[in-house]
Amino acid sequence: MGEALLVPCPIGKKHMDRDLIKQQLNYALEGTNFDDQGELYKGKVRDNYVNEDTITMVTTDRISAFDRVLGTVPFKGQALVELADWWFGETADIVANHIIKRPHPNVWKVKRCEPIQVEMVVRGYLTGVTSTSAWTAYQKGDRNFCGNELPEGMRKNEAFPEPIITPSTKAAQGEHDESVAPSELYKRGAVDPGLYKELARISMRLYERGVSRAADQGMIFVDTKYEFGISNGKIMLMDEVNTPDSSRYWMKDDYESRFEKGEEPRKLDKEYVRTWLSDQGFTGDGKPPKLTDEIRVEASARYMEVVEKFTKEPMQLDVGPVDDSIYSILNPFAY
Ligand SMILES: Nc1ncnc2c1ncn2[C@@H]1O[C@H](COP(=O)(O)OP(=O)(O)O)[C@@H](O)[C@H]1O
Ligand SMILES: [Mg+2]
Repeated sequence: MGEALLVPCPIGKKHMDRDLIKQQLNYALEGTNFDDQGELYKGKVRDNYVNEDTITMVTTDRISAFDRVLGTVPFKGQALVELADWWFGETADIVANHIIKRPHPNVWKVKRCEPIQVEMVVRGYLTGVTSTSAWTAYQKGDRNFCGNELPEGMRKNEAFPEPIITPSTKAAQGEHDESVAPSELYKRGAVDPGLYKELARISMRLYERGVSRAADQGMIFVDTKYEFGISNGKIMLMDEVNTPDSSRYWMKDDYESRFEKGEEPRKLDKEYVRTWLSDQGFTGDGKPPKLTDEIRVEASARYMEVVEKFTKEPMQLDVGPVDDSIYSILNPFAY
């Protein structure tokens, strides 16, 4: 069994060490299968070991885009947990969250919540590439997106006059989430109006905090998704928060000049992988292309770059066979 080797990412703020990432390609954490940690529920990205009041949540290196798992990106799980941890800390004054502790770089122990059946999507900009994106709908002439009236004459990647909330349903496994107006959520019994309004208020504050912290680091916090649950009668922020998986980040410095020229902004998030996929002709339907090692390495470096922009600390990476090191921490008596 390999021993967990914790090394600081050697290049710190400049650029991630591509050689280290390449060495990790074969160890990228595809999944876990521990038989003594609780009932296993595999999401697209996380392996959740569900217990009575807690969940041991292993964030793997799986990458999903357009609601499909496409492969793995080395160190992605560690990057997500690191950044979400930082954001949970930065937003704890706005809403309580589910984190209990982080026993390993990939793992959280969280409070098990009763999930609220809505994803709260907050958007500051008119963008997207999929058939269900706000931009696609707008381009087709739709001026009402999930109950939000949109002005005429907007261009792709332009800021909305005010950020908007476009809730979506939580799709069953293998299905796409569906953006709907709040009235539709009430009709379907997903959430009642009182609770929805409270979630909307919290989500907007979380988004504004995101915008302001990202701006401090030269980034635009474009849009994001929040999930909430109830624990002991209290609203809790659960899942992940403001990560490059659940959010879009753009570079701020040349956003305006590129926008004026009709060029895409520079993207610091999964959009890099999404754009590559859509260049290959894949936007969610049919057989996805296989991620090349080059894309996996580049995506890894970009995930880590975003993390370190916020935390201002070189990531402490667990290198090598990560599932062994996780298990040795979760069950120290098994060896
Ligand atoms: N504290 C919590 N209590 C209960 N469920 C949670 C909690 N935090 C996250 N979840 C759920 O656990 C799953 C996390 O796994 P993930 O890979 O993100 O799944 P998905 O494919 O649905 O995105 C999600 O279904 C999420 O809604
Ligand atoms: Mg998820």
